[in-house]
Amino acid sequence: MKIVIGPARKTDAEELAALFIKARKLMYKLSPRGFGAALNGPDVPDDEKRRIIGELKDRNQLTLVARTQAGGLAGFITGCIEKYSDDLLTAPFVSLVYIYVEVKYRRRGVARSLMQRLEAWAAENKISVMELTVWSGNEQGQALFRDSGYVPLQLRLAKKLPACRDAT
Ligand SMILES: CC(C)(COP(=O)(O)OP(=O)(O)OC[C@H]1O[C@@H](n2cnc3c(N)ncnc32)[C@H](O)[C@@H]1OP(=O)(O)O)[C@@H](O)C(=O)NCCC(=O)NCCS
Repeated sequence: MKIVIGPARKTDAEELAALFIKARKLMYKLSPRGFGAALNGPDVPDDEKRRIIGELKDRNQLTLVARTQAGGLAGFITGCIEKYSDDLLTAPFVSLVYIYVEVKYRRRGVARSLMQRLEAWAAENKISVMELTVWSGNEQGQALFRDSGYVPLQLRLAKKLPACRDAT
């Protein structure tokens, strides 16, 4: 089946919102144990749709969709231009916000193509670095990013502390 990559349109917003909710639920499942509570919020498709439509107008952000021949979405990627440097990266650079491919379209190179198209957008904006975060337990994500040439820059560590009952 032929899959075409292109910028998301307003008419994709409803389907994109449904895919985004699926992606967020999966990210919650893959979160390191005890972390990721923000990913476990209620699903409000209309709010997601409104957010997506708003973000489509933002020139510092791009959402690309992988469209099937039938017109449905096989997956999406969102990236944004970061304007502030940090210790390791000099701004501007592109940060990958989300990438998700529907289960039945996986292992056909859809995500690889989405990554390449986002990198091409970075290059069109004269940006030479793209960065991303991946959960330590997300093996498929890590495999994709290794395949696409990304290398680890840092390790993020956290420890759960006993809750402080009386902070006064
Ligand atoms: C990660 C994900 C986007 C990959 O999508 P995909 O379209 O199946 O990936 P591709 O077919 O383009 O894979 C490209 C390469 O990545 C690697 N790869 C991708 N998925 C893999 C898997 N499940 N196991 C091992 N390697 C994998 C392989 O090297 C693959 O090349 P190959 O098929 O020629 O061996 C998809 O599994 C997904 O949506 N996962 C849930 C969301 C997610 O984890 N997003 C990333 C977190 S930010």
